[in-house]
Amino acid sequence: MKSYAPEPFVNFADETVRTQFDHELQHVLQKLDRTYPLVIGGREIYTDAQCVSYNPANLSQVIGRVSQATRAHVDEAFQNAAETFKTWSRKSAEQRALYLFKAATIIRRRKHEFSSWLLLEAGKTRPEADADTAECIDFLEYYGRQILTLAERGKETLVPYAGEDNQLHYIPLGVGVVIPPWNFPLAIMAGMTAASIVAGNTVLLKPASQTPVIAYKFLEVLKEAGLPDGVVNFVPGDVLEIGDYLVDHKMTRFISFTGSQRIGMRIYERASKVHDGQIWLKRVIAEMGGKDAIIVDADADLDAAAQAIVASAFNFSGQKCSACSRAIVHEAVYDDVLARVIERTKNLSVGNPSDPASIVGPVIDQKAYDKIQSYIELGKTEGRLVCGGTQTATPGYFVNPTIFADVAPNARISREEVFGPFLAFTKASSFTEAIEFANQTEFGLTGSVFTRNRDHIEEARATFHVGNLYFNRKSTGALVGVHPFGGFNMSGTDSKAGGPDYLMLFTQPKLSSEVL
Ligand code: NAD
Ligand code: ALA
Repeated sequence: MKSYAPEPFVNFADETVRTQFDHELQHVLQKLDRTYPLVIGGREIYTDAQCVSYNPANLSQVIGRVSQATRAHVDEAFQNAAETFKTWSRKSAEQRALYLFKAATIIRRRKHEFSSWLLLEAGKTRPEADADTAECIDFLEYYGRQILTLAERGKETLVPYAGEDNQLHYIPLGVGVVIPPWNFPLAIMAGMTAASIVAGNTVLLKPASQTPVIAYKFLEVLKEAGLPDGVVNFVPGDVLEIGDYLVDHKMTRFISFTGSQRIGMRIYERASKVHDGQIWLKRVIAEMGGKDAIIVDADADLDAAAQAIVASAFNFSGQKCSACSRAIVHEAVYDDVLARVIERTKNLSVGNPSDPASIVGPVIDQKAYDKIQSYIELGKTEGRLVCGGTQTATPGYFVNPTIFADVAPNARISREEVFGPFLAFTKASSFTEAIEFANQTEFGLTGSVFTRNRDHIEEARATFHVGNLYFNRKSTGALVGVHPFGGFNMSGTDSKAGGPDYLMLFTQPKLSSEVL
């Protein structure tokens, strides 16, 4: 087996690639507005109730209509997953890994097709969609290899003891519930699912309601890869009907959640209650929001810093948990950096990602749009509007990249996650103060520091309290296996997705000791 390396990104500067992509996009456009089922134990179930998924850049375009699970469907899915667990959990790590490798191969072959779905359903530009597809492939390839390493680790780590054969077996937990967000609707959804099942668990996958069609497409791939029925049960549904029900269910052994702090806290709290008939403590893996800062020191490469701030803040309309939403700049270079960032931001073209010239696409839905507008109004009272703050007249949810200057570190727009193309600039009188400001949120996900000062690098390494700390680069774009990802404090359980410890969370170690 080849060693793992991240999937290379597609080069959209190449005209042949562009033509291939456009061809695939046209192909996917022919498949819009179809109806999709639930999948329970391999059985496809169509319901009258449907969730309609729209293109956020063009609301007249229906991406698909997806069946909605009831609580009775959830019960059926739990029964099926529990039954399937008996056989799936007994397969070897090698056997389970092969399904992931096969799925990765299929998605690699259909790369532009998946990226086209991402463009249409999530509003991603071509490079952002390609990065999501590449990360999905990476999770499959990486976790497939990691489970083999974990199986070996259990045999090698114990202290030898004369006359005994001692082994740690990382056995699966049982039936899990996978609840992904819409913002990496392929990569994160597939990564959470793949990690769960390669460790030997079976799952109920409840996709985000904004992006259920992409999740269904992944189900199709698992089927094509030959994954046994019942290992992944697809239960899209209204969270008011099945959200708490999935979490509270006595058969839920673990919940793998990625999403907002509010929902993550709700799940964490509810999962702690032991229900009648439940014979385990539920495990919760919860990766949540961020309020990520880029610090620019007095001696930094200012152009590189400005470029990274703009890319981190506005690519995919700032809808990444890792997005830069605060620029904290040393007073000696504050005006200079602000001017450079404004100039670059004004050059970003906002529009439908179907147009390759668009750099900033839509935000995901009306709720997100309204939330961002309300923060723009708040920003006008907490800072100086220097860019954007307006909407773009199109049939989608477009917000022009918005920058507020001179924002206090304790302002609400400095502390609360906006999750849109929204950036607050704060002035610091020293490098140490910049880090103090950066730490003044309840989150702790990503952070970047631009400096040439080695002492300051070490200071930030010791005191900037974030799960993913980057130097002289953007705060987004963690690569699987290279930058294990997860945050501190209210950013979640710091599970470090795409890292060597992640799969352990989906297992429980069992010791066996045999007298020889
Ligand atoms: P969200 O919390 O609204 O939804 C996440 C998932 O939870 C969705 O599938 C949703 O349907 C489901 N859900 C909602 N209410 C539920 C309930 N009561 N019970 C069970 N499930 C419920 O988040 P979102 O808007 O989809 O995603 C954006 C958020 O995710 C942002 O806060 C972002 O920072 C965060 N995020 C974090 C990471 C990370 O790795 N830390 C990665 C991506 C996104
Ligand atoms: N893993 C994604 C990033 O680093 C969220 O941007």
